[in-house]
Amino acid sequence: MRLPNSLVLELPEQREVRGRAFPLVLGPDGSFDLAACRDTILGLARDHGGILFRGFDVPSPEAFASFVETLRIENMPYVGGAAVRTPIVGDRVFTANESPPGEPVPFHHEMAQVPEPPAYIFFYGDRPSVSGGETPIVLSHEVYSCFLEEFPGCCEAVEAHGIQYIRVMPEVDDPSSSIGRSWKATFQVDSRVDAEAVMRQLGTRWEWLEDGNLKTITATVPAIRRDPRTGEKQFFNSMVAAYKGWVDARNDPKKAVRLGNGEAIDATALEALYVFMREHCVAIPWEKNDVLMLDNGLVLHARNPFVPPRRILASLGKAAMPSAVDRS
Ligand SMILES: [Fe+2]
Repeated sequence: MRLPNSLVLELPEQREVRGRAFPLVLGPDGSFDLAACRDTILGLARDHGGILFRGFDVPSPEAFASFVETLRIENMPYVGGAAVRTPIVGDRVFTANESPPGEPVPFHHEMAQVPEPPAYIFFYGDRPSVSGGETPIVLSHEVYSCFLEEFPGCCEAVEAHGIQYIRVMPEVDDPSSSIGRSWKATFQVDSRVDAEAVMRQLGTRWEWLEDGNLKTITATVPAIRRDPRTGEKQFFNSMVAAYKGWVDARNDPKKAVRLGNGEAIDATALEALYVFMREHCVAIPWEKNDVLMLDNGLVLHARNPFVPPRRILASLGKAAMPSAVDRS
């Protein structure tokens, strides 16, 4: 696939998987027409799982918003996600997970716990940390292969029954927790009645607890998905993240995820997958104005601990809008 006026860069952190760079890293070469290459870029994101755009003319959060808009990715508001986030440019760009700097955010597909997760997630290096704070990424099909080979019984149970996520949300955002987003912000409502209406729509079951807390049990969602574009099975879920990371004053991570039939998921498998992801991920240190585009169906992401200050922004894309004429 041809991409005019861009350079393929090589970084020491990259991996090669099935003969392809992961992620693809591109730099500009002369005047780069993003709009003209749009369909090619979407194809490359699918083939590589992710693209890091380094050195392109994206000097501000507003420029990041128009970068995403130029690719004609339909915007997706952050409804149903667990992390505390702040809007930066309209409802298109917001801060990435604002959880405490010392805590890692484990690997997950963005919003895998909702029925229709985003097709893409974009990150922007607004203010990289002086130390740490990378956004490690790992290919989902590799995780699936490991799961199937090492724990076939558990893998088949997860595939057959799907999984449910259980989370207790506070009434007011709690930035001291990586899953501290309030139910009001999560469902973008002001009242219990409105929250219940949204949960009903999502198929989520709930229980009101003391202190205004809300316990939610999601609808059973598939945890292994077949990518419609390639037919390949993907480990599409946040079960390792929930099991390892959904911990705070309200939540016990050991109870945060279970099979769709209510049974527990094999803890040994979850621990082993956690290790596999760490060993097979790519963590490229952020540079200012980097844009990282991930195909959310193919790649899991995480966040390493860091030394503040750091500000990485994010934007979610529901789907690519229909193709116009691709001039690349
Ligand atoms: Fe995320």
